Amino acid sequence: MPVTYSSYLKIDELLALQQPLSDGPEHDEMLFIVIHQVYELWFKELIHELEFLVNELQGVEVARAQHTLKRVLTILKVLVHQIDILETMTPLEFLSFRERLESGSGFQSFQFRELEFVLGWKRPAALARYEPGTTARTRLERRLAEPTLWDAFLRYLVARGHPVPAEALERDVTRPVIAMPAIHPVLLGVYRTDAEARGVCERLVDLDEGLMEWRYRHVKMVERTIGTRRGTGGSAGAAYLKTTLDQPLFPDLWQIRTEL
Ligand code: HEM
Repeated sequence: MPVTYSSYLKIDELLALQQPLSDGPEHDEMLFIVIHQVYELWFKELIHELEFLVNELQGVEVARAQHTLKRVLTILKVLVHQIDILETMTPLEFLSFRERLESGSGFQSFQFRELEFVLGWKRPAALARYEPGTTARTRLERRLAEPTLWDAFLRYLVARGHPVPAEALERDVTRPVIAMPAIHPVLLGVYRTDAEARGVCERLVDLDEGLMEWRYRHVKMVERTIGTRRGTGGSAGAAYLKTTLDQPLFPDLWQIRTEL
């Protein structure tokens, strides 16, 4: 059989995956399913690109790394923009099928947690939500033990001759990236003397800001759709989501700005 558009992309299988649960079914449930599935596909692609980027930075393939970073940032913009589509759904339209979600929630998206882990926001507690031996748990355990984008970036700086302190290079990669004042003089030196690495720093700040932008747009969308109701995933809802807003991935890159 020759390869066709449908056979290559598995279109029949793909189009069979949207299965509303509400009676009728409710018109807006299709949008809700499609948008979440599209997000999960973009999460998959982002993880794929970020894995590549971590390897590129450690191998000092900087031209390619900048290119990959640009792609990641462009996808992130699409993720933020897609919230506009979901905001065309009114609270009553959402409530018409919300109870069918039972305890299902984006909270349980293991790819989103993988993304956070690769980006440096390691939270071992996130693993507890997944049963040992499941795909989600196994993937997260592997990700937890891997170096993050920040760890790869520090190695890239070392390869370019910057004196990154050993405490930064030897940090426990299963822990979240936290601010480390000892690295500030190194980053200030990078900004003042190394245009190429400075470009990478600025793209990392774009990435950090981009994820914060997504979190902000998501929480506002949640507030306008369900107000202060609790989340289907069991959290306090918007109140919980607000606690995740001002948590930079790369705190040192923000803190050095005052000294530049
Ligand atoms: C009507 C639309 C939506 C509503 C009302 C909503 C609501 C919520 C709420 C209340 C939470 C907090 C956890 C909980 O208790 O459930 C949450 C978390 C989350 N949602 Fe949504 N959400 C919506 C759409 C989306 C979409 C389209 C995505 C894309 C994948 C998404 C991804 C997530 C993620 C990743 C979390 C976890 C965030 C974190 O823990 O930092 N949500 N959502």
